[in-house]
Amino acid sequence: MAAPEYAQSDPEGIEGVRMTWLNWPRSKVEASKCVIPIAATIQPIRPHVDLQAVPYLPLRCKTCTAVLNPFCRVDFTALIWICPFCFQRNHFPQHYSSISQTNMPAELYPNFPSIEYLIPNYQNLPNFNPFPIYLFVLDTCMLEEELAFAKSALKRAIGVLPDNALVGFVSYGTQVQVHELGFSEMSKVYVFRGSKELTKDQVLEQLGLGAPGGRPIRPTGGGGPSPMAGTNPNAGINRFLLPASECEYSFDSLLDELGTDQWPVAPGNRALRCTGAALSVAAGLLGACSTGTSARIIALVGGPCTEGPGAIVSKDLSDPVRSHKDLDKDSAPFFKKSVQFYEHLGKQLVSQGHVLDVFASALDQVGIAEMKVAVESSGGLVVLAESFGHSVFKDSFKRIFEDGEQSLGLSFNGTLEINCSKDIKIQGIIGPCSSLEKKGPSVANTVIGEGNTTAWKLCGLDKNTCLTVFFDVSSSEKSDPAGTNPQLFIQFLTSYQSPDGQMRLRVTTVTRRWVDSTVGNEDLVQGFDQEVAAVVTARLASYKMEVEEGFDATRWIDRNLIRLCSKFGDYRKDDPSSFTLNQGFSIFPQFMFNLRRSQFVQVFNNSPDETAYFRILLNRETVSNAAVMIQPSLISYSFNSLPAPVLLDVTSIGADRILLLDSYFSVVIFHGMTIAQWRNMGYQNQPEHEAFAHLLQAPHDDAQLIIRDRFPAPRLVVCDQHGSQARFLLAKLNPSATYSNANEMMAPGSDIIFTDDVSLQVFLEHLQKLAVQGS
Ligand SMILES: *[C@@H]1O[C@H](CO)[C@@H](O)[C@H](O)[C@H]1NC(C)=O
Ligand SMILES: *[C@@H]1O[C@H](CO)[C@@H](O)[C@H](O)[C@H]1NC(C)=O
Ligand SMILES: *[C@@H]1O[C@H](CO)[C@@H](O)[C@H](O)[C@H]1NC(C)=O
Ligand SMILES: [Zn+2]
Repeated sequence: MAAPEYAQSDPEGIEGVRMTWLNWPRSKVEASKCVIPIAATIQPIRPHVDLQAVPYLPLRCKTCTAVLNPFCRVDFTALIWICPFCFQRNHFPQHYSSISQTNMPAELYPNFPSIEYLIPNYQNLPNFNPFPIYLFVLDTCMLEEELAFAKSALKRAIGVLPDNALVGFVSYGTQVQVHELGFSEMSKVYVFRGSKELTKDQVLEQLGLGAPGGRPIRPTGGGGPSPMAGTNPNAGINRFLLPASECEYSFDSLLDELGTDQWPVAPGNRALRCTGAALSVAAGLLGACSTGTSARIIALVGGPCTEGPGAIVSKDLSDPVRSHKDLDKDSAPFFKKSVQFYEHLGKQLVSQGHVLDVFASALDQVGIAEMKVAVESSGGLVVLAESFGHSVFKDSFKRIFEDGEQSLGLSFNGTLEINCSKDIKIQGIIGPCSSLEKKGPSVANTVIGEGNTTAWKLCGLDKNTCLTVFFDVSSSEKSDPAGTNPQLFIQFLTSYQSPDGQMRLRVTTVTRRWVDSTVGNEDLVQGFDQEVAAVVTARLASYKMEVEEGFDATRWIDRNLIRLCSKFGDYRKDDPSSFTLNQGFSIFPQFMFNLRRSQFVQVFNNSPDETAYFRILLNRETVSNAAVMIQPSLISYSFNSLPAPVLLDVTSIGADRILLLDSYFSVVIFHGMTIAQWRNMGYQNQPEHEAFAHLLQAPHDDAQLIIRDRFPAPRLVVCDQHGSQARFLLAKLNPSATYSNANEMMAPGSDIIFTDDVSLQVFLEHLQKLAVQGS
């Protein structure tokens, strides 16, 4: 039943899990010799056509709480199952008594390592709220035109929200305004000073939502059915959060009246913008809702915070916003304090179970680098665009509210727990989650990312959400000396509220093999996943760049690659020409070459905001999307052949070709010189040149397919060879033809990249030389 036909196109399969190594070395020492860490990428709620959903609660092992799964040994006569994690025998309960070899419950189907339990009666949970809350936070320190774009995006959003979705609205400039949407006649506004940091209790108090003693009011019961089950209808939160159907009109007219911030801006100054205070007030307002209620703050930010908590730069325009150089030299006076503020805000959101999304649009930076921690820990979305009128913002923003096939599958209140076989330890997770600080036997001593726990909170998660789990094997001694159990097991349990309001528990149980790597590398080589290894290396390098002072990513990547090739390559010592790499490793060096050149390592080419943005997406996206961020894909269209992938190399440029580059954040259509000339002469409009019209159209159609499926929407660049926009393509290509070897390398019609970067060929030659050297 396992669908082998998926193997190529769907490497994640129903599990949603991929690993750097399919076969695991048994000891810590052997694991460290593998160079690439033992890690798994998991898409906790990946959709899959074959996924079974059952309307009951799972059976759990009475000793270790692992859930019944296809790898349990089952005695159908005695009605007993043996847990593969702790080897405990468990009796099936009465209602399983009719099971047999031929009448198995879905959770035992072989080849279905993932199953989803629909939690029954979840509607009766005390705090359950089936309707998502959207609390919009709008910056008004913007140009008239930008504000108009932002406002019309908000209006469109309200128009498409389900009637029962709850809507709230906060606007801010120098001060924060919390709007009551309940009264269209005399709209009431609560104003907060932007310069002051308020606690959640102070916010609630000022909004009239606080109970004496500073605790949010709990439900009193007997209030009758209310869209806000779980909050006290009398507590007044309904004044601020209204069903979309009821407030669409008042919200629209409120937006119509809302102008740009009126606070005077002195010449030579930036606007006083209190983004931090506004987000803090928004989080406080949501604090009146129950923990885990599906709620997201959707902030539209048009510039840097200059006022109050979270400020990233002074109001004086002659002080530039911090650059990577400033951060490196520790001369960014606002940075640490601002990050601390957002760490705190992130903790508050996580404890409330709410999500922060940031849509930023500005020519200068707005402070994504500082906000990153709050967005990532709450599982929020972030989109960076140059204008609220640009398609990158407009198309992305629309997607949040879309349902049906195009839905992002935005889900809430997620918890991920991991159970492992005895000798496996968890170091931590890189990705949009935060630790629930749950200790257990499988917590490793060393920490990577969110570690020191076996459970994580994912306030916001969606179909694409992908986490990287780093594992360690427990000791250098074989704790299973006879090697009796050749299989290892890991169980991932994700509970969450899906977009339809249903509480679900996805259980994915995976098994892999222990191998004795002291006798040879074959098993390891067989089970290497180079695409996952490349993505995990990129994520780890980015993480180390953030947390390790003075970390040299290029050297670290080079050293690891050389060690990997020394261990797994075939060669005669000190003879570079004898070097070959197994097929299973063959594209990994090229991934590393592109990673070294990528925005993740060459951060000085970008602003800290851009770097933070790229990293948030690298860490949360699927493996195949992350792989494209590291190593863009390039497709060539020409008359003589079908569209085909070509080398990411400057020699792939041809005068009679069109290239389609997908580097995730942008999609580039690049016309060769001749193609551009024919197009300028309008050949595509002449009936006898229909084939040319098709050739011209094909890359546009393919680009639209990419753009439609992607969040955030990528920037589309259409350019011609030698045009100014051509740099979007050239920057990503291997400089095989540079001016130092232009004569040998130049193919007719190709381009030259003026750079002193080493080319892939030179890189690989060096690699072979170093890999075959004895250590
Ligand atoms: C959130 O999830 C937890 C379990 O992970 C559950 O106990 C709680 O009831 C959920 N809260 C809401 C409001 O759905
Ligand atoms: C599985 O997880 C539960 C809950 O986190 C924990 O109590 C138990 O010890 C774990 N069992 C194993 C074998 O890791
Ligand atoms: C892990 O948790 C323990 C106890 O809660 C703490 O003492 C220790 O410092 C933590 N380790 C790391 C690396 O965070
Ligand atoms: Zn057990």
